[in-house]
Amino acid sequence: MSPTFTISDLRQCPQFIDTVADRVWQAWWRDSGHPLSLISGRLRDENLNANPLPFALVAHDGEAFLGTASVIASDLAERPQWTPWIAAVWVEPEARRRGVGGALVNQATRDCFALGFGRTYLCARATLSAYYERLGWTPIERDVGPRRLSVSIRDANPQAGPINRSRP
Ligand SMILES: CC(C)(COP(=O)(O)OP(=O)(O)OC[C@H]1O[C@@H](n2cnc3c(N)ncnc32)[C@H](O)[C@@H]1OP(=O)(O)O)[C@@H](O)C(=O)NCCC(=O)NCCS
Repeated sequence: MSPTFTISDLRQCPQFIDTVADRVWQAWWRDSGHPLSLISGRLRDENLNANPLPFALVAHDGEAFLGTASVIASDLAERPQWTPWIAAVWVEPEARRRGVGGALVNQATRDCFALGFGRTYLCARATLSAYYERLGWTPIERDVGPRRLSVSIRDANPQAGPINRSRP
């Protein structure tokens, strides 16, 4: 069954910027005391210009926001030599388990390869490693930094196989 959602670059649908900022803030920044304005300001300043990185993707069904993922130059202070990173993958609770998260990650990965990067990185809690492995990612490190994150990679090398465009 074909998906009933679209994935757009935030530059093409800036009406979602406040929603993206809110979800990213709630999931990853609020508890550490950072203000929402910091995240919305960064998104506006860094993700709407012509620079290739960073960028944010939005999954939506028309004007209904379903989820988001970002691509940023650096996501793990302990591994500053690696770039780019897929980060801040978020799907609205009521839209989960329909392939939206997988489609966002796959699109972000394809966009990185299209920009000329041969390898993409992501870090996640160990409990999410299996999720990314199902999407074709390879775990390369565990327990990195104080948050004990796992690092996974995806290579553009065709020998690694095509990226699944449909449901994971
Ligand atoms: C993780 C997340 C992005 C997945 O989005 P999604 O749209 O539901 O993902 P998909 O539909 O592509 O894949 C769903 C599959 O992933 C699995 N999955 C989802 N969340 C998982 C988790 N936390 N751990 C392990 N597997 C998970 C489900 O079991 C499901 O498989 P199933 O339907 O066969 O049971 C979503 O749950 C989310 O936004 N979570 C909160 C934010 C977060 O943790 N983001 C990841 C940061 S690295």
